[in-house]
Amino acid sequence: MDLEEDIRSLQLDSADPKQEVQAQSVEAEPKAKVKEILSVQDEEDEQMKKRHLNVVFIGHVDAGKSTTGGQILFLSGQVDDRTIQKYEKEAKDKSRESWYMAYIMDTNEEERVKGKTVEVGRAHFETDTTRFTILDAPGHKSYVPNMISGASQADIGVLVISARKGEFETGYERGGQTREHVQLAKTLGVTKLLVVVNKMDDPTVNWSKERYDEIESKMIPFLKQSGYNVKKDVSFLPISGLMGLNIKTRLDKSLCSWWDGPCLFESLDSIEVPMGDPKSPFRMPIIDKFKDMGTVVMGKVESGTIRDGDSLLIMPNKDHVKVVAIYIDENRVTLAGPGENLRVRLSGVEEEDILSGFVLSSAANPISTVTEFVAQLQILELLDNAIFTAGYKAVLHVHSVVEECEIVELLQQIDPKTRKPIKKKVLFVKNGAIVLCRVQVNNVICVEKFSDFPQLGRFTLRTEGKTVAVGKITAL
Ligand code: GTP
Ligand code: MG
Repeated sequence: MDLEEDIRSLQLDSADPKQEVQAQSVEAEPKAKVKEILSVQDEEDEQMKKRHLNVVFIGHVDAGKSTTGGQILFLSGQVDDRTIQKYEKEAKDKSRESWYMAYIMDTNEEERVKGKTVEVGRAHFETDTTRFTILDAPGHKSYVPNMISGASQADIGVLVISARKGEFETGYERGGQTREHVQLAKTLGVTKLLVVVNKMDDPTVNWSKERYDEIESKMIPFLKQSGYNVKKDVSFLPISGLMGLNIKTRLDKSLCSWWDGPCLFESLDSIEVPMGDPKSPFRMPIIDKFKDMGTVVMGKVESGTIRDGDSLLIMPNKDHVKVVAIYIDENRVTLAGPGENLRVRLSGVEEEDILSGFVLSSAANPISTVTEFVAQLQILELLDNAIFTAGYKAVLHVHSVVEECEIVELLQQIDPKTRKPIKKKVLFVKNGAIVLCRVQVNNVICVEKFSDFPQLGRFTLRTEGKTVAVGKITAL
Protein backbone atom coordinates (compact mmCIF):
# COMPACT_ATOMS: atom_id res chain seq x y z
CA MET A 1 0.00 0.00 0.00
CA ASP A 2 3.04 2.19 -0.17
CA LEU A 3 2.32 3.00 -3.76
CA GLU A 4 -1.07 4.24 -2.71
CA GLU A 5 0.45 6.31 -0.01
CA ASP A 6 2.86 7.77 -2.43
CA ILE A 7 0.13 8.77 -4.78
CA ARG A 8 -1.71 10.17 -1.82
CA SER A 9 1.28 12.23 -0.85
CA LEU A 10 1.12 13.86 -4.26
CA GLN A 11 -2.29 14.99 -3.42
CA LEU A 12 -2.39 16.81 -0.19
CA ASP A 13 -4.59 19.70 -0.37
CA SER A 14 -5.78 23.10 -1.24
CA ALA A 15 -7.92 25.62 0.14
CA ASP A 16 -11.14 27.10 1.04
CA PRO A 17 -12.26 30.15 2.86
CA LYS A 18 -15.26 31.55 4.58
CA GLN A 19 -16.18 34.37 2.39
CA GLU A 20 -19.43 35.22 0.87
CA VAL A 21 -21.67 37.16 -1.34
CA GLN A 22 -25.19 36.46 -2.53
CA ALA A 23 -27.46 35.96 -5.52
CA GLN A 24 -26.63 33.59 -8.29
CA SER A 25 -26.80 33.45 -12.02
CA VAL A 26 -27.33 30.40 -14.09
CA GLU A 27 -25.20 30.40 -17.17
CA ALA A 28 -21.67 31.39 -17.95
CA GLU A 29 -20.04 34.25 -16.12
CA PRO A 30 -21.87 37.49 -16.82
CA LYS A 31 -19.19 39.84 -17.96
CA ALA A 32 -20.20 43.38 -17.39
CA LYS A 33 -23.31 43.86 -15.33
CA VAL A 34 -22.39 44.66 -11.82
CA LYS A 35 -24.36 45.32 -8.73
CA GLU A 36 -22.46 47.78 -6.64
CA ILE A 37 -23.01 47.24 -2.98
CA LEU A 38 -23.18 50.45 -1.09
CA SER A 39 -22.10 49.84 2.42
CA VAL A 40 -18.64 48.38 2.79
CA GLN A 41 -19.45 47.13 6.26
CA ASP A 42 -22.56 45.25 5.14
CA GLU A 43 -20.61 43.81 2.33
CA GLU A 44 -17.81 42.47 4.46
CA ASP A 45 -20.34 40.96 6.86
CA GLU A 46 -22.08 39.37 3.92
CA GLN A 47 -18.79 38.04 2.61
CA MET A 48 -18.05 36.22 5.84
CA LYS A 49 -21.41 34.49 6.16
CA LYS A 50 -21.35 31.46 3.93
CA ARG A 51 -18.49 29.35 2.76
CA HIS A 52 -17.89 28.90 -0.95
CA LEU A 53 -16.97 25.61 -2.65
CA ASN A 54 -16.13 24.77 -6.23
CA VAL A 55 -17.55 21.37 -7.12
CA VAL A 56 -16.51 19.65 -10.31
CA PHE A 57 -18.77 17.06 -11.94
CA ILE A 58 -16.68 14.30 -13.43
CA GLY A 59 -17.17 10.84 -14.90
CA HIS A 60 -17.47 8.89 -18.14
CA VAL A 61 -19.27 10.32 -21.15
CA ASP A 62 -23.07 10.24 -20.84
CA ALA A 63 -23.01 9.32 -17.15
CA GLY A 64 -25.45 12.16 -16.51
CA LYS A 65 -23.23 14.97 -15.22
CA SER A 66 -24.99 17.78 -17.09
CA THR A 67 -28.42 16.31 -16.42
CA THR A 68 -27.70 16.12 -12.70
CA GLY A 69 -26.17 19.61 -12.69
CA GLY A 70 -29.21 20.96 -14.53
CA GLN A 71 -31.56 19.20 -12.14
CA ILE A 72 -29.74 20.73 -9.16
CA LEU A 73 -30.25 24.19 -10.61
CA PHE A 74 -33.89 23.47 -11.32
CA LEU A 75 -34.54 22.09 -7.83
CA SER A 76 -32.74 24.97 -6.18
CA GLY A 77 -34.95 27.43 -8.02
CA GLN A 78 -32.42 28.82 -10.49
CA VAL A 79 -34.40 27.76 -13.55
CA ASP A 80 -38.11 28.26 -14.06
CA ASP A 81 -40.70 25.93 -15.57
CA ARG A 82 -41.02 28.02 -18.72
CA THR A 83 -37.35 27.59 -19.50
CA ILE A 84 -37.59 23.86 -18.88
CA GLN A 85 -40.54 23.64 -21.29
CA LYS A 86 -38.55 25.54 -23.88
CA TYR A 87 -35.64 23.12 -23.48
CA GLU A 88 -37.99 20.14 -23.68
CA LYS A 89 -39.23 21.37 -27.02
CA GLU A 90 -35.76 22.15 -28.31
CA ALA A 91 -34.48 18.73 -27.23
CA LYS A 92 -37.42 17.06 -28.92
CA ASP A 93 -36.78 18.97 -32.15
CA LYS A 94 -33.23 17.63 -32.08
CA SER A 95 -34.52 14.08 -31.38
CA ARG A 96 -32.84 14.16 -27.99
CA GLU A 97 -35.92 14.13 -25.79
CA SER A 98 -34.21 12.98 -22.63
CA TRP A 99 -31.50 15.62 -22.90
CA TYR A 100 -33.55 18.66 -21.87
CA MET A 101 -32.20 18.78 -18.30
CA ALA A 102 -28.64 18.70 -19.65
CA TYR A 103 -29.45 21.78 -21.77
CA ILE A 104 -29.40 23.86 -18.60
CA MET A 105 -25.66 23.18 -18.41
CA ASP A 106 -24.88 22.52 -22.06
CA THR A 107 -25.47 25.96 -23.45
CA ASN A 108 -23.87 25.95 -26.88
CA GLU A 109 -25.31 24.58 -30.08
CA GLU A 110 -22.61 21.96 -30.70
CA GLU A 111 -23.12 20.55 -27.22
CA ARG A 112 -26.86 20.39 -27.66
CA VAL A 113 -26.75 18.81 -31.12
CA LYS A 114 -24.25 16.14 -30.11
CA GLY A 115 -25.51 15.69 -26.56
CA LYS A 116 -21.97 16.02 -25.27
CA THR A 117 -20.42 18.66 -23.06
CA VAL A 118 -17.33 20.27 -24.60
CA GLU A 119 -16.53 23.32 -22.47
CA VAL A 120 -16.68 23.19 -18.70
CA GLY A 121 -20.13 24.56 -17.79
CA ARG A 122 -20.37 26.91 -14.84
CA ALA A 123 -23.31 27.67 -12.61
CA HIS A 124 -24.10 28.67 -9.08
CA PHE A 125 -26.50 27.51 -6.42
CA GLU A 126 -26.61 27.61 -2.69
CA THR A 127 -27.74 25.53 0.24
CA ASP A 128 -28.22 26.63 3.84
CA THR A 129 -24.54 26.56 4.65
CA THR A 130 -22.67 26.84 1.37
CA ARG A 131 -22.47 28.71 -1.92
CA PHE A 132 -21.51 26.27 -4.64
CA THR A 133 -20.03 26.85 -8.05
CA ILE A 134 -20.75 23.84 -10.25
CA LEU A 135 -18.09 23.06 -12.84
CA ASP A 136 -19.64 20.60 -15.28
CA ALA A 137 -16.74 18.81 -16.97
CA PRO A 138 -17.00 16.98 -20.28
CA GLY A 139 -16.73 13.20 -20.10
CA HIS A 140 -15.62 12.52 -23.65
CA LYS A 141 -11.96 11.54 -23.92
CA SER A 142 -11.26 14.19 -26.56
CA TYR A 143 -11.95 16.89 -24.01
CA VAL A 144 -9.83 15.71 -21.09
CA PRO A 145 -7.77 18.94 -21.16
CA ASN A 146 -11.00 20.87 -20.47
CA MET A 147 -11.80 18.46 -17.67
CA ILE A 148 -8.33 19.07 -16.22
CA SER A 149 -8.91 22.79 -16.23
CA GLY A 150 -12.25 22.34 -14.46
CA ALA A 151 -10.86 19.95 -11.86
CA SER A 152 -7.88 22.15 -11.16
CA GLN A 153 -10.27 24.87 -9.97
CA ALA A 154 -12.30 22.53 -7.77
CA ASP A 155 -12.28 21.77 -4.06
CA ILE A 156 -14.58 18.77 -4.15
CA GLY A 157 -15.78 16.40 -6.85
CA VAL A 158 -19.03 14.70 -7.70
CA LEU A 159 -18.16 11.53 -9.59
CA VAL A 160 -21.20 10.56 -11.64
CA ILE A 161 -21.48 6.89 -12.54
CA SER A 162 -24.19 5.39 -14.70
CA ALA A 163 -25.75 2.30 -13.19
CA ARG A 164 -27.41 1.41 -16.51
CA LYS A 165 -26.52 -2.07 -17.73
CA GLY A 166 -23.25 -1.95 -19.64
CA GLU A 167 -22.62 1.75 -19.00
CA PHE A 168 -20.92 1.37 -15.63
CA GLU A 169 -18.73 -1.33 -17.22
CA THR A 170 -17.51 0.79 -20.17
CA GLY A 171 -16.76 3.74 -17.94
CA TYR A 172 -14.79 1.58 -15.53
CA GLU A 173 -12.74 -0.31 -18.11
CA ARG A 174 -9.15 0.64 -18.78
CA GLY A 175 -9.40 3.52 -21.21
CA GLY A 176 -12.77 4.55 -19.73
CA GLN A 177 -12.92 8.03 -18.29
CA THR A 178 -14.20 6.99 -14.86
CA ARG A 179 -10.67 5.86 -14.04
CA GLU A 180 -8.83 8.67 -15.73
CA HIS A 181 -11.02 11.34 -14.15
CA VAL A 182 -10.59 9.96 -10.66
CA GLN A 183 -6.82 9.87 -10.96
CA LEU A 184 -6.68 13.33 -12.42
CA ALA A 185 -9.04 14.79 -9.84
CA LYS A 186 -6.93 13.45 -7.01
CA THR A 187 -3.73 14.82 -8.50
CA LEU A 188 -5.30 18.17 -9.19
CA GLY A 189 -6.29 18.69 -5.59
CA VAL A 190 -9.87 17.44 -5.42
CA THR A 191 -9.64 16.05 -1.91
CA LYS A 192 -13.20 14.90 -1.35
CA LEU A 193 -15.39 12.86 -3.66
CA LEU A 194 -19.08 12.20 -3.65
CA VAL A 195 -19.74 9.19 -5.85
CA VAL A 196 -23.28 9.37 -7.19
CA VAL A 197 -24.61 6.19 -8.71
CA ASN A 198 -26.94 7.68 -11.29
CA LYS A 199 -29.72 6.39 -13.58
CA MET A 200 -31.10 4.27 -10.74
CA ASP A 201 -34.52 4.75 -12.38
CA ASP A 202 -33.39 3.06 -15.60
CA PRO A 203 -35.40 -0.08 -16.45
CA THR A 204 -32.21 -2.18 -16.35
CA VAL A 205 -31.59 -1.02 -12.77
CA ASN A 206 -34.91 -0.15 -11.18
CA TRP A 207 -33.35 0.91 -7.87
CA SER A 208 -31.71 -2.48 -7.44
CA LYS A 209 -29.62 -2.74 -4.29
CA GLU A 210 -27.54 -5.50 -5.89
CA ARG A 211 -26.51 -3.24 -8.76
CA TYR A 212 -25.70 -0.38 -6.41
CA ASP A 213 -23.63 -2.65 -4.14
CA GLU A 214 -21.82 -4.13 -7.14
CA ILE A 215 -20.77 -0.69 -8.34
CA GLU A 216 -19.72 0.44 -4.89
CA SER A 217 -17.67 -2.68 -4.25
CA LYS A 218 -15.86 -2.35 -7.59
CA MET A 219 -15.18 1.35 -7.13
CA ILE A 220 -13.77 1.16 -3.60
CA PRO A 221 -10.49 -0.66 -4.36
CA PHE A 222 -9.90 1.57 -7.34
CA LEU A 223 -10.52 4.77 -5.37
CA LYS A 224 -8.07 3.51 -2.74
CA GLN A 225 -5.47 2.85 -5.40
CA SER A 226 -5.95 6.35 -6.70
CA GLY A 227 -5.04 7.76 -3.32
CA TYR A 228 -8.42 8.47 -1.74
CA ASN A 229 -9.02 7.53 1.85
CA VAL A 230 -12.34 5.84 1.23
CA LYS A 231 -13.53 6.09 4.84
CA LYS A 232 -12.72 9.76 5.30
CA ASP A 233 -12.84 11.35 1.87
CA VAL A 234 -15.44 9.48 -0.14
CA SER A 235 -19.16 8.81 0.16
CA PHE A 236 -21.59 7.05 -2.14
CA LEU A 237 -25.26 7.63 -2.83
CA PRO A 238 -27.88 6.51 -5.36
CA ILE A 239 -29.74 9.10 -7.43
CA SER A 240 -31.71 9.69 -10.57
CA GLY A 241 -30.53 12.92 -12.11
CA LEU A 242 -33.17 12.81 -14.80
CA MET A 243 -36.09 12.24 -12.41
CA GLY A 244 -34.59 14.50 -9.76
CA LEU A 245 -34.66 11.79 -7.11
CA ASN A 246 -32.52 11.81 -3.94
CA ILE A 247 -31.18 15.20 -4.91
CA LYS A 248 -32.95 17.88 -2.90
CA THR A 249 -35.08 15.60 -0.77
CA ARG A 250 -34.51 12.09 0.52
CA LEU A 251 -35.78 9.02 -1.29
CA ASP A 252 -39.25 7.76 -0.70
CA LYS A 253 -39.18 4.35 0.98
CA SER A 254 -41.87 3.08 -1.38
CA LEU A 255 -39.47 3.62 -4.28
CA CYS A 256 -36.26 2.46 -2.64
CA SER A 257 -36.64 0.65 0.65
CA TRP A 258 -32.99 -0.06 1.30
CA TRP A 259 -31.52 3.44 1.20
CA ASP A 260 -31.46 5.21 4.55
CA GLY A 261 -28.75 7.71 3.77
CA PRO A 262 -28.75 11.38 2.90
CA CYS A 263 -29.74 13.06 -0.35
CA LEU A 264 -27.24 14.90 -2.57
CA PHE A 265 -27.83 18.38 -1.09
CA GLU A 266 -27.34 17.07 2.44
CA SER A 267 -24.16 15.28 1.42
CA LEU A 268 -22.75 18.35 -0.30
CA ASP A 269 -23.61 20.48 2.71
CA SER A 270 -21.81 18.22 5.14
CA ILE A 271 -18.52 17.91 3.26
CA GLU A 272 -15.71 19.49 5.21
CA VAL A 273 -12.80 20.93 3.30
CA PRO A 274 -9.66 22.31 4.91
CA MET A 275 -9.41 26.08 4.65
CA GLY A 276 -6.65 27.77 2.68
CA ASP A 277 -4.49 30.31 4.40
CA PRO A 278 -5.81 33.85 3.83
CA LYS A 279 -2.60 35.21 5.36
CA SER A 280 -0.08 33.56 3.03
CA PRO A 281 1.25 35.45 -0.03
CA PHE A 282 -1.39 36.14 -2.67
CA ARG A 283 -1.54 33.80 -5.70
CA MET A 284 -4.24 33.64 -8.35
CA PRO A 285 -3.52 31.68 -11.55
CA ILE A 286 -5.20 33.38 -14.49
CA ILE A 287 -7.56 31.21 -16.52
CA ASP A 288 -8.98 33.91 -18.75
CA LYS A 289 -8.86 37.65 -19.45
CA PHE A 290 -10.84 40.23 -21.36
CA LYS A 291 -11.21 43.97 -21.91
CA ASP A 292 -13.94 45.73 -20.00
CA MET A 293 -13.23 49.29 -18.86
CA GLY A 294 -9.66 48.20 -18.39
CA THR A 295 -8.21 44.74 -18.15
CA VAL A 296 -10.15 42.02 -16.36
CA VAL A 297 -8.60 38.71 -15.33
CA MET A 298 -10.41 35.60 -14.11
CA GLY A 299 -9.17 32.89 -11.80
CA LYS A 300 -9.39 31.14 -8.47
CA VAL A 301 -7.50 32.41 -5.45
CA GLU A 302 -5.13 29.65 -4.33
CA SER A 303 -3.64 31.50 -1.40
CA GLY A 304 -3.71 34.83 0.39
CA THR A 305 -6.19 37.69 0.30
CA ILE A 306 -6.80 40.36 -2.32
CA ARG A 307 -8.22 43.80 -1.55
CA ASP A 308 -9.33 46.82 -3.54
CA GLY A 309 -6.36 49.08 -4.21
CA ASP A 310 -3.70 46.35 -3.76
CA SER A 311 -0.49 46.67 -5.78
CA LEU A 312 0.33 43.28 -7.28
CA LEU A 313 2.52 41.68 -9.93
CA ILE A 314 1.53 39.68 -12.96
CA MET A 315 4.08 36.92 -13.22
CA PRO A 316 6.21 35.84 -14.98
CA ASN A 317 6.37 39.23 -16.75
CA LYS A 318 6.61 41.22 -13.52
CA ASP A 319 4.05 43.75 -14.72
CA HIS A 320 3.08 46.05 -11.85
CA VAL A 321 -0.69 46.33 -11.58
CA LYS A 322 -3.23 47.91 -9.28
CA VAL A 323 -6.51 46.28 -8.25
CA VAL A 324 -9.36 48.51 -9.40
CA ALA A 325 -12.28 46.24 -8.60
CA ILE A 326 -12.99 42.66 -7.46
CA TYR A 327 -16.10 40.69 -8.44
CA ILE A 328 -17.51 37.42 -7.19
CA ASP A 329 -20.23 36.40 -9.65
CA GLU A 330 -21.93 39.68 -10.48
CA ASN A 331 -21.24 41.23 -7.11
CA ARG A 332 -18.54 43.71 -6.35
CA VAL A 333 -16.60 42.95 -3.17
CA THR A 334 -13.78 44.70 -1.37
CA LEU A 335 -11.76 41.65 -0.48
CA ALA A 336 -11.60 37.95 -1.27
CA GLY A 337 -9.65 34.97 0.02
CA PRO A 338 -8.65 31.42 -0.92
CA GLY A 339 -11.12 29.33 -2.90
CA GLU A 340 -13.02 32.25 -4.42
CA ASN A 341 -13.51 32.49 -8.17
CA LEU A 342 -12.91 36.08 -9.08
CA ARG A 343 -12.90 38.59 -11.84
CA VAL A 344 -10.41 41.30 -11.04
CA ARG A 345 -10.20 44.58 -12.91
CA LEU A 346 -6.63 45.85 -13.11
CA SER A 347 -4.90 49.00 -14.18
CA GLY A 348 -1.31 49.12 -15.42
CA VAL A 349 -1.46 46.24 -17.88
CA GLU A 350 -2.85 45.62 -21.35
CA GLU A 351 -5.05 42.61 -21.95
CA GLU A 352 -2.72 41.51 -24.80
CA ASP A 353 0.16 41.19 -22.35
CA ILE A 354 -1.53 38.51 -20.29
CA LEU A 355 -1.74 34.81 -21.09
CA SER A 356 -3.67 32.13 -19.27
CA GLY A 357 -1.21 30.42 -16.97
CA PHE A 358 0.15 33.75 -15.75
CA VAL A 359 -0.30 34.35 -12.05
CA LEU A 360 -1.57 37.43 -10.26
CA SER A 361 0.79 37.49 -7.36
CA SER A 362 1.88 39.31 -4.21
CA ALA A 363 4.50 41.95 -5.08
CA ALA A 364 6.46 41.49 -1.86
CA ASN A 365 6.58 37.74 -2.25
CA PRO A 366 5.96 36.84 -5.89
CA ILE A 367 5.54 33.33 -7.28
CA SER A 368 8.68 31.59 -8.57
CA THR A 369 9.38 31.49 -12.28
CA VAL A 370 11.35 28.69 -13.91
CA THR A 371 12.22 26.96 -17.15
CA GLU A 372 13.41 23.86 -15.34
CA PHE A 373 12.49 22.04 -12.14
CA VAL A 374 12.97 18.77 -10.32
CA ALA A 375 9.92 16.64 -9.77
CA GLN A 376 8.87 13.32 -8.40
CA LEU A 377 6.85 11.55 -11.04
CA GLN A 378 4.51 8.64 -10.77
CA ILE A 379 4.26 6.93 -14.16
CA LEU A 380 0.70 5.79 -14.80
CA GLU A 381 0.39 4.33 -18.24
CA LEU A 382 2.78 4.98 -21.09
CA LEU A 383 1.53 4.72 -24.64
CA ASP A 384 2.08 1.23 -26.09
CA ASN A 385 3.98 0.36 -22.93
CA ALA A 386 6.83 2.57 -24.05
CA ILE A 387 9.76 3.24 -21.76
CA PHE A 388 10.26 6.52 -19.99
CA THR A 389 13.71 8.00 -20.34
CA ALA A 390 15.64 11.27 -20.81
CA GLY A 391 14.38 12.95 -23.97
CA TYR A 392 10.75 12.00 -23.31
CA LYS A 393 8.44 14.82 -24.42
CA ALA A 394 4.97 15.51 -23.11
CA VAL A 395 2.48 18.28 -22.37
CA LEU A 396 2.68 19.65 -18.85
CA HIS A 397 -0.52 20.75 -17.09
CA VAL A 398 0.10 22.66 -13.87
CA HIS A 399 -2.67 24.93 -12.45
CA SER A 400 -3.75 26.93 -15.52
CA VAL A 401 -0.49 26.38 -17.43
CA VAL A 402 -0.30 24.11 -20.48
CA GLU A 403 3.26 23.83 -21.86
CA GLU A 404 5.36 21.41 -23.83
CA CYS A 405 8.07 19.88 -21.72
CA GLU A 406 10.95 17.49 -21.95
CA ILE A 407 12.45 15.16 -19.37
CA VAL A 408 16.12 16.07 -19.45
CA GLU A 409 17.48 13.69 -16.84
CA LEU A 410 16.31 10.85 -14.65
CA LEU A 411 17.90 11.38 -11.27
CA GLN A 412 16.77 8.57 -9.07
CA GLN A 413 14.23 5.82 -8.98
CA ILE A 414 12.18 5.32 -5.85
CA ASP A 415 11.03 1.91 -4.75
CA PRO A 416 7.24 2.06 -4.76
CA LYS A 417 7.08 -0.47 -1.92
CA THR A 418 9.60 0.88 0.56
CA ARG A 419 9.49 4.44 -0.80
CA LYS A 420 13.25 4.51 -0.43
CA PRO A 421 15.58 5.67 -3.23
CA ILE A 422 17.13 2.86 -5.26
CA LYS A 423 20.90 3.24 -5.37
CA LYS A 424 21.48 1.94 -8.88
CA LYS A 425 21.76 4.55 -11.63
CA VAL A 426 18.52 4.84 -13.53
CA LEU A 427 18.38 5.17 -17.31
CA PHE A 428 14.76 4.31 -17.98
CA VAL A 429 11.59 3.32 -16.13
CA LYS A 430 8.28 1.66 -17.00
CA ASN A 431 4.62 1.83 -15.99
CA GLY A 432 4.04 2.17 -12.27
CA ALA A 433 7.52 3.50 -11.49
CA ILE A 434 8.22 6.45 -9.25
CA VAL A 435 11.15 8.51 -10.40
CA LEU A 436 12.82 11.79 -9.58
CA CYS A 437 13.73 13.74 -12.72
CA ARG A 438 14.62 17.09 -14.19
CA VAL A 439 11.95 18.64 -16.39
CA GLN A 440 12.48 21.46 -18.87
CA VAL A 441 9.93 23.77 -20.52
CA ASN A 442 10.41 26.08 -23.50
CA ASN A 443 8.83 29.15 -21.94
CA VAL A 444 9.12 30.57 -18.47
CA ILE A 445 6.32 29.29 -16.23
CA CYS A 446 5.10 30.18 -12.75
CA VAL A 447 5.12 27.29 -10.31
CA GLU A 448 5.95 26.54 -6.71
CA LYS A 449 7.35 23.65 -4.75
CA PHE A 450 4.61 21.22 -3.83
CA SER A 451 5.60 21.44 -0.17
CA ASP A 452 5.04 25.22 -0.17
CA PHE A 453 1.87 25.52 -2.29
CA PRO A 454 0.43 22.07 -3.13
CA GLN A 455 -1.99 23.48 -5.71
CA LEU A 456 0.76 25.25 -7.61
CA GLY A 457 3.26 22.41 -7.40
CA ARG A 458 1.34 19.36 -8.62
CA PHE A 459 0.96 18.54 -12.27
CA THR A 460 0.06 15.98 -14.91
CA LEU A 461 1.93 14.93 -18.04
CA ARG A 462 -0.07 13.98 -21.11
CA THR A 463 0.89 12.71 -24.54
CA GLU A 464 -1.38 12.13 -27.50
CA GLY A 465 -4.43 12.83 -25.42
CA LYS A 466 -3.61 10.44 -22.58
CA THR A 467 -2.41 11.11 -19.07
CA VAL A 468 0.91 9.31 -18.71
CA ALA A 469 2.13 10.59 -15.35
CA VAL A 470 1.29 12.68 -12.31
CA GLY A 471 3.91 14.52 -10.34
CA LYS A 472 4.90 17.00 -7.70
CA ILE A 473 7.60 19.61 -7.91
CA THR A 474 10.31 19.05 -5.33
CA ALA A 475 12.90 21.69 -6.28
CA LEU A 476 13.02 24.80 -8.45
P1 GTP B 1 -20.96 14.35 -21.32
O1 GTP B 1 -21.06 15.77 -20.95
O2 GTP B 1 -20.97 14.15 -22.79
O3 GTP B 1 -19.78 13.67 -20.69
O4 GTP B 1 -22.27 13.59 -20.73
P2 GTP B 1 -23.01 13.83 -19.33
O5 GTP B 1 -22.37 13.00 -18.28
O6 GTP B 1 -23.13 15.27 -19.06
O7 GTP B 1 -24.43 13.16 -19.60
P3 GTP B 1 -25.80 13.92 -19.93
O8 GTP B 1 -26.28 14.62 -18.72
O9 GTP B 1 -25.64 14.67 -21.18
O10 GTP B 1 -26.77 12.66 -20.12
C1 GTP B 1 -26.55 11.67 -21.07
C2 GTP B 1 -27.81 10.84 -21.27
O11 GTP B 1 -28.12 10.11 -20.09
C3 GTP B 1 -29.05 11.67 -21.59
O12 GTP B 1 -29.84 10.99 -22.52
C4 GTP B 1 -29.76 11.74 -20.28
O13 GTP B 1 -31.14 11.92 -20.39
C5 GTP B 1 -29.46 10.37 -19.70
N1 GTP B 1 -29.57 10.39 -18.24
C6 GTP B 1 -28.91 11.24 -17.40
N2 GTP B 1 -29.29 11.02 -16.12
C7 GTP B 1 -30.20 10.03 -16.15
C8 GTP B 1 -30.97 9.36 -15.14
O14 GTP B 1 -30.91 9.64 -13.95
N3 GTP B 1 -31.80 8.38 -15.56
C9 GTP B 1 -31.94 8.04 -16.88
N4 GTP B 1 -32.79 7.06 -17.17
N5 GTP B 1 -31.24 8.65 -17.84
C10 GTP B 1 -30.38 9.62 -17.50
MG1 MG C 1 -22.29 16.85 -19.94
